[in-house]
Amino acid sequence: MKYLSSHEIREMFLAFFESKGHKRFPSASLIPNDPQLMFTVAGMVPFKPIFWGKVEPTYTRITTCQKCIRTNDIENVGRTPRHHTFFEMLGNFSFGDYFKEEAIEWAWEFLTKELEMPIEKLWVSVYETDEESFNIWKYKIGVPENKIMKFGKEDNWWGPVGPTGPCGPCSEIYFDTGNSKNCQDHENCTPACDCGRFVEIWNIVFTEYYSDENGNLSPLPRKNIDTGAGFERICAAVQDVYDNFKSDLFKEIIEKIEKTFSVKFGEDSNTDVSIKVIADHVRAIAFLIADGVIPSNEARGYVLRRIIRRAVRHGTLLGSKGPFLKDILETVIWKMSDVYPELLEKRDLIEKISKIEEEKFFSTLEKGVERLNTIISNFDKGNTLPGSVAFELYDTYGFPVDITKEILEEKGIKVNEKEFEELMNKQKEMAREALGKVEYDESNPVYKRLSKILSKTEFIGYEALRIEEELKAIINNGNIINEAFEGEEVELFFARSPFYSEKGGQVSDKGVIVNDKFMAEVNDVQMISGEIISHFVKIKKGSIKTGEKVVLEVNETLRKATEKNHTATHLLHAALRKILGNHVKQAGSYVGPERLRFDFSHFEPLSREQMYHIEYLVNEQIQKAIPVVTYVKSLEEARNMDVVALFEEKYGDVVRVVEIGDFSREFCGGTHVSNTGEIGIFKIISESSVSSGVRRIEALTGMEGLNFVNGLQDTIVKISQMLDIPIYKIQEKIEDILQILKTQEKEIKKLQSQLATKTIEKLVDNPKIIKGEKVVVGILENLEKDVHANTADVLIQKLGRGVVILFNKNEENNVSFIVKVSKELTNKFHAGNIAKKIAFYLGGGGGGSPTFAQAGGKKVKKLEEVIDNLENILEE
Ligand code: ALA
Repeated sequence: MKYLSSHEIREMFLAFFESKGHKRFPSASLIPNDPQLMFTVAGMVPFKPIFWGKVEPTYTRITTCQKCIRTNDIENVGRTPRHHTFFEMLGNFSFGDYFKEEAIEWAWEFLTKELEMPIEKLWVSVYETDEESFNIWKYKIGVPENKIMKFGKEDNWWGPVGPTGPCGPCSEIYFDTGNSKNCQDHENCTPACDCGRFVEIWNIVFTEYYSDENGNLSPLPRKNIDTGAGFERICAAVQDVYDNFKSDLFKEIIEKIEKTFSVKFGEDSNTDVSIKVIADHVRAIAFLIADGVIPSNEARGYVLRRIIRRAVRHGTLLGSKGPFLKDILETVIWKMSDVYPELLEKRDLIEKISKIEEEKFFSTLEKGVERLNTIISNFDKGNTLPGSVAFELYDTYGFPVDITKEILEEKGIKVNEKEFEELMNKQKEMAREALGKVEYDESNPVYKRLSKILSKTEFIGYEALRIEEELKAIINNGNIINEAFEGEEVELFFARSPFYSEKGGQVSDKGVIVNDKFMAEVNDVQMISGEIISHFVKIKKGSIKTGEKVVLEVNETLRKATEKNHTATHLLHAALRKILGNHVKQAGSYVGPERLRFDFSHFEPLSREQMYHIEYLVNEQIQKAIPVVTYVKSLEEARNMDVVALFEEKYGDVVRVVEIGDFSREFCGGTHVSNTGEIGIFKIISESSVSSGVRRIEALTGMEGLNFVNGLQDTIVKISQMLDIPIYKIQEKIEDILQILKTQEKEIKKLQSQLATKTIEKLVDNPKIIKGEKVVVGILENLEKDVHANTADVLIQKLGRGVVILFNKNEENNVSFIVKVSKELTNKFHAGNIAKKIAFYLGGGGGGSPTFAQAGGKKVKKLEEVIDNLENILEE
């Protein structure tokens, strides 16, 4: 085999498939536009809707080198020659174009003719019932029958990625590394053996089925090809190295690690694990951050956090005492940015975010490891660590459970992961409850009975705020009833309603339901099973029967104010992404009539300038008076339009898009102003942290915004009146006042010291004599702490040989005191013991050494008693 660099191999693959009529595409993001998936885990992910038949292909043949992340096996990364979190996958795809024959022939041609892999080193496998592929391999390609393995679903079936979707049988190509070191029976070793000698380098999936949640298969509209060739594995095979980490893909990265930690790769198996962990993880870190992920405790952010923390821990195993990732990340960026320019573009972000996370973990790692070691010091091999300990390590020291597992694995101890998970879930539950989000109980059986009377409520509140309707049903306390009376709190149901039910962060509408003899206040509105709107009302007047006509009237003032805040939230979201970067993702929101709150992923507090900039941008859109347009699209169509969607949300087949000019486009079911001009003003009132990696902005719009600004103005006017100066001079004046205060404080300290010194002189001249030694007792008032300590020092110096007890009473009626015993008297007196006894009288505590002690108490009145008893106290 001729030597080829990884660069050459990648390019040869793409060029080869271009020559076979494929369109070459750059890699898509690691964050798929796919609510079913957290990461792009294979080359086919960006094309899933095409495989699925939901979207028509523009090209029927495509080739890519796709960046991927898989973390299900993260504990193995570093311990084997071939496990990775980040990796590249070479792919050629056919969407209803060529099928088995070409896919197999081209795979073989590329491997044997282009890469010149020796035919004798290649083995293949087919799905056990796939005779067609078997025959192609045997007759068309000429692979001997004994080198064509037949495997079942476990090995030769691929997909779906996610709970449902396209999938199919596959055919794989294996490379024989010849390395039979780990094999029990190397004479008879085949790809069926898991010793590691045979490496799967190529997987051709015949994507022709759709699988539902239960694994039921049905044919897809097209027969497709999805090829995935593990790039790192192919490079290792071509470069004749058994371990992927020895290929040129990792060369400079590993050299940098060797230099950073003064270690050598390949000399010690433990060191090698850590080197490989870091080499793998730095690639994942750089690429994840470049694609907009930031560390947090949720979903993707948590995966990144785990990866960074695991890398940091292995850094400490190699001897690191502080952050080290930056230089190694630099090497990754330098090495890979010609193929992936986003790395260079996001270089500052990568370094900044990883540094913050790294420092954070360093500050607790050592303590956490220490704690873990203490806990397990009397554990034996084979013992299990309680989940509660793993949880404590997570909660207090930020240890992802896989780090705890890994540390313990080295000692043969397991972790009770089930218990850990339970505690994690409990914590999440509590957090949810703390937010006041007690889920509305849709599962109440009465709603099932209700659905027989009314199958759906049509929401007409986008257009109308007031309609007349016939009352269809009443629920009172879990029962369906026919009539409700004054004073009762019940749920009312209609076939149509203008009332918005609480969802997507927007609060529910309030309002009234009335007719001539009846009036009820609507306090809450909820959606049941996504179909029926429940109006929670309190009847203020009269009674109502099902079948009667009533008017449903939404409180327009509240609704309009809420709409201003909702549209402003979209503007804010867009402005944040423009100014901070596209890693900003919504993490929660509240839209009410009085204000808006928006939580989003970001790694550091916003600067004053950024806040101004954001406010400015949003207000600019308001002043441009842009129409807000909404329309409904199929989910697939909308996806291709670059709409901001929330990964966590599940969308139906059709989605509503809210569009504000070119500035913002989001999936949203909420209600909005019809023109941004209606918002009037947008004012941020606070920026804070919610949890690590999540920031919160609170803001006001419309009249609330104006009221806020007026409130600030009132305060300033009052201050200017108090200081009796014009507003523009306030700052200067306050600076002056603070300066004066500082000078005065210094002056006070000086005077106190002088006074104290005077008192001291008197005291020193009139000591008590106890046990034949001079004992000086002083009671001073309101001394600063340092003046108190200083005075006691001066006193003992002046006294030379003796005992000093110096009390300091303060305004809150507390008393603190210092006891000093000169060195030569420690055989007669013990400062610490004296302090303890005095403190006991004073109802407090304290203590110290034989020569110096400090204590205090709250019973100032007892001070006299102490003085009277001093001889006893000191004699004992
Ligand atoms: N999608 C297939 C895989 O990832 C090719 O192996």
